[in-house]
Amino acid sequence: MEEEEGEEYLFKVVIIGDSAVGKSNLLSRYARNEFNINSKATIGVEFQTQCMDIDGKEVKAQIWDTAGQERFRAVTSAYYRGAFGALIVYDISRRTTFDSVERWLQELRTHSDTTVARMLVGNKCDLENIRDISVEEGKSLAEREGLFFMETSAFDSTNVKTAFEIVIREIY
Ligand code: GTP
Ligand code: MG
Repeated sequence: MEEEEGEEYLFKVVIIGDSAVGKSNLLSRYARNEFNINSKATIGVEFQTQCMDIDGKEVKAQIWDTAGQERFRAVTSAYYRGAFGALIVYDISRRTTFDSVERWLQELRTHSDTTVARMLVGNKCDLENIRDISVEEGKSLAEREGLFFMETSAFDSTNVKTAFEIVIREIY
């Protein structure tokens, strides 16, 4: 790889949230423009590296995805170590996943060693007909906790790129 064109930047971003909120599909939509209707629960940790251009500089984000299910999770402290950004994801059609956000924020606070750019993500906004959490509720939680906020759909691509890029831009 040629690196003579100037500096490169590599940032770690983690995705967290309950099982089946769509973390893995948000990542595959962002990194490969793929969606899987039958995706299996993640076991352990996966990551993708994605490049973007910010003000003429090449910025690389290494985006980490892990299991929402406790029994499939890898070592928690290693997962968060060195993270500069985090997407905390819930499913707008399942209240329990929204109720878990505080717990995920607590875990992030416990394990992160830097100031982390944080985005609250209400995923599956294509499921308007079975919505359980209003946009206002999501927004007000985000305001209370000092997070960015966005509703996304990995299914129809709504705001997926924007959500990741706001976080990466904020880090940069
Ligand atoms: P764990 O790996 O167990 O933590 O789950 P996850 O958060 O990675 O969820 P995953 O991406 O595997 O998605 C779970 C299910 O929700 C799958 O059936 C996906 O197809 C579906 N799904 C993900 N994102 C969306 C979305 O934006 N809209 C809709 N309608 N379905 C989605
Ligand atoms: Mg997953």
